[in-house]
Parts: sequence; structure tokens; C-alpha cells
Amino acid sequence: MEPAVISNIEFNFDPAATPIWPVRSADLAAWQAAHPGPMSAWCDSNDFTAVAGKFIRLPGDDGTLAGVLLGMGEGGDKAADYWAFGSLANALPPGLYRIEGDLSSAAQSDLADHAALAWAQAAYRFTRYHSNDDAPSGDGSDDSDKVARLCLPENTAAAALQGAIKGSFLARDLINTPASDMGPEELADAAVALADEFGAKANVIVGDDLLAENYPAIHAVGRASTRAPRLIDLRWGEGDAPRLTLVGKGVCFDTGGLDLKSAAGMLKMKKDMGGAATVLGLAAMIMAAKLPVALRVLIPAVENSVAGNAFRPGDVLATRKGLTVEVGNTDAEGRIVLCDALAEADSDDPALIIDVATLTGAARVALGQDVPAIFTGSDDLAADLMRLGETLDDPSWRLPLYAPYKERLNSKVADLNNVSDGPMAGAITAALFMQAFVSQPDRWLHMDSYGWNDRDRPGRPAGGDGLAMRALFALVKERFA
Ligand code: BES
Ligand code: MN
Ligand code: ZN
Repeated sequence: MEPAVISNIEFNFDPAATPIWPVRSADLAAWQAAHPGPMSAWCDSNDFTAVAGKFIRLPGDDGTLAGVLLGMGEGGDKAADYWAFGSLANALPPGLYRIEGDLSSAAQSDLADHAALAWAQAAYRFTRYHSNDDAPSGDGSDDSDKVARLCLPENTAAAALQGAIKGSFLARDLINTPASDMGPEELADAAVALADEFGAKANVIVGDDLLAENYPAIHAVGRASTRAPRLIDLRWGEGDAPRLTLVGKGVCFDTGGLDLKSAAGMLKMKKDMGGAATVLGLAAMIMAAKLPVALRVLIPAVENSVAGNAFRPGDVLATRKGLTVEVGNTDAEGRIVLCDALAEADSDDPALIIDVATLTGAARVALGQDVPAIFTGSDDLAADLMRLGETLDDPSWRLPLYAPYKERLNSKVADLNNVSDGPMAGAITAALFMQAFVSQPDRWLHMDSYGWNDRDRPGRPAGGDGLAMRALFALVKERFA
């Protein structure tokens, strides 16, 4: 049960470390008055005005680095303003730093926590395929002489930060690893390794055993790949604690199947196991924090491939729940594999089911890449998650399970079609399809996520990311701890 070693954070506070002062534009004059001499003069000669995200290195009497001013502009009162610490982590010279000043005082410790998170996340690098890379690895190896390190006050919630970083780096690594090295088997191996690390039980049902164990829909989607489909099932925690079941879409590569995607549409589809990566990262956070839940994680892991034995448009599939599904489009494969996993999740009546899936392009059209869409029958769940997302700058936004659209999934030959008969509300109709496989929608939260950052931002490099993982963790903690 090792906590994550974070390569650029020190949990021993050193008052001799170089101070970093976050300052608002309006407070800059007062700060300068309190720090007369070379530091203040240097601000003036560089026209530093504390614009948000801008920073300046300050000289001491002997010209060496004595401190850093980080501009907060008009802000400084919310987590989002503190991502800039991620830029500092990568821009400042190697050495030991600490956060100073009003904005990071004890009263503002949530903000200081976010600054530390941004700093720690900035150390992430995906270096697996770099034959020669001197960059800090972010994997816990000792790079301490090469990087800017942040030391944190004793009252910092070290375990929480370590859990968040472990979960986040795990999700990023899993998503960034190309499908050639992250197929259903490798995804299962990663899940089992996580289970082993935290003393969880793991069970994996592989290939034709899925048919014997009544997971026909997972098998149908995954059977065309040379890499056998499987259902990953982890269990952790006390049996009498409230049951929380996480379900993650583990499509290790999505060609679209016989309804083949375009080149542009297929390009990033190694990330189609982003839901699985997110729930594994979330599970790592939950287990690291020893939250009082009986945790179960279910991941249907498949590759949606093209071959002679691929499932076809027009096929009627059996599902675990017993509902039959007409395949309107083989590219709507996520909801098909998830419906068997959801039916199983539902079978032992958990207090809460959370599923995360890179399910639809439509969710991205509605909300863009940063804001996962959420769906639930519970107004409280939705409101709580959106509130926590706002506080932690880890957003998501609710879309409705609008019942009248259910008829768009009607089929003449089966109980339902896997796609809507029209072009609109694709994220909602996908969610309504999923809802057909859970018995209590008010104990279910579905998240349709992009699983990816399209551009580099401080602490959030372009590439795979377990979006909303911290907000989901906070939700679970608030409900069950
Ligand atoms: N994995 C995709 C959804 C996706 C695409 C997520 C791009 C993020 C970025 C999913 O399997 C899919 O192909 N969905 C189709 C559904 C359609 C056929 C009803 C889509 O959204 O186009
Ligand atoms: Mn697809
Ligand atoms: Zn997909």
C-alpha cells in the first residue's frame, strides 16, 4: 500500500526554501512596500503588474534568486487560478521552493492544496517510448537534483495529494499507451496489478468464457480482435460497508467495426479505454485513502475490430440482462459492452453505480472536451458533483435523461436498437440506452468523458487524462466517509 512518490514535492517543510508569493494586481503595491530593496526595484524595472499567470524571479542583495512573484490578476480566490503553479514547476530553476503570503495561508489551504496538485501534476511525462530522455520521469525515480521542488507545510494532506497524483498518473499512462501495448490483456494486467498493490481481489473472465458466464454482448463486440475480450472485476473493502461499483468503458481501440471510422475519427481511438483508466485511477484514490466503502470495479475490455467474424449492422445481440439489442451501428460499441457490465453491477444492489465512458462524439459537441457530461436520476448526485467540480476546478455538467427520447431507440426486431433513429441528442440517447440496464437510476451516475486534453496547459499536458476524477473522489468521500 505504498503512497505515490512525487518526484517534485517535499513533504518536509524547509523555511529556507525560496518563497513563491502569489499576488493580486491590487495587492502588488502593498507587497512591494513590505519587500523594499532589490526585489521591489526589480518588479518596477520589469514593469511587473501581477497579470494572472505571469511570474517574475526576484533577486536578493547579492543578485541570487531570492523569491518568485506569481501574478493572480484580479483572481486568487479559486482553485482554477492556481494551475499556474504547474507552469512554475517546469519553468523555475532546480531548487527547493515554498508557497508564501496571504493567498496560501491556512485559511486558504484548499487553494494551497490545488497549487501543490498543479505543481505535482506538472511533473508528469509519458516517456515510455523515448529512447533518450533526460526529462523528469514523474515515475518516482530520483530526479530531485534536476527539478524545481516544492516543499509543503506540515499540515498538508499528504496522503490525499499522493492518492490524487497516483490516480491521475495511472489514468494518463493507461490512456497514452498505444493500443499495440494496451490491449484487453494489458489493461487487465494493469487492473490486477493495482488490485495486488492494495490487497483487492481480482477476477478476469476471458474470451469464450464470457459466453459461458453470460456476458454475450461483451463477447460479440470483442470477438473480432485477435486479442480476446474480457471482463475485469475487482473487489476491495469491508463487506458490510456501503457498496460502490465503478464501471469503465475499456475499448482498447475503436476502429468503429464494420461501420468503420474515418482516418480522422480513428486517430485518437487508443483513448477509448479512457473510462476504464478514469475508474482505475479513481479506485486507486479510494483505496489509497481507505474510504469506508465496499468497492467493486467492472471493466469490459475489448478491441472493436474488423474481421470476418465481426458483429454486423442488423445483427440482434443477446445481453446479460436478457434484453435483445439490434445493432444499428457497430461504432456505438461502448454502450453494448457497458450494458452487460451495468447489468452485473446492478445485480448486487450497490448504494451507487458510477460509470465513466468515452461514449459519444455528441457529448463533446455539446460541452467541449474539458467538461464531461453527466446523467443520473438523482438531482442531489448531479448537484453535488457539479458543485465539487466547481470547487476543485474539475468540472462536469448534467444533461437530462429525457424519457420521451427513449422511443428513438425502438427496434422492430429487438427490444431496443443501439443507436437513435435520428441525428440529434446523441449523448442523451446513449445514456438512455444505458439506463435500460440499471434498475435504480437515482443510484446511478453515468459520465460521458473525452478522456483527453487537446492542448498543453499548466499541470495538464496534451494527452490522456482522467477528467473529473478528483471531483468524483470528493463526491464518494462526501457521501460515504
Ligand atoms: N468512442 C466513440 C465516441 C468518441 C468519439 C468519444 C470521439 C470521444 C471522441 C464511440 O464508440 C462512438 O464511436 N460513438 C459514435 C456513436 C454513433 C455511431 C451513434 C459517435 O459518437 O459518433
Ligand atoms: Mn465507436
Ligand atoms: Zn468507442
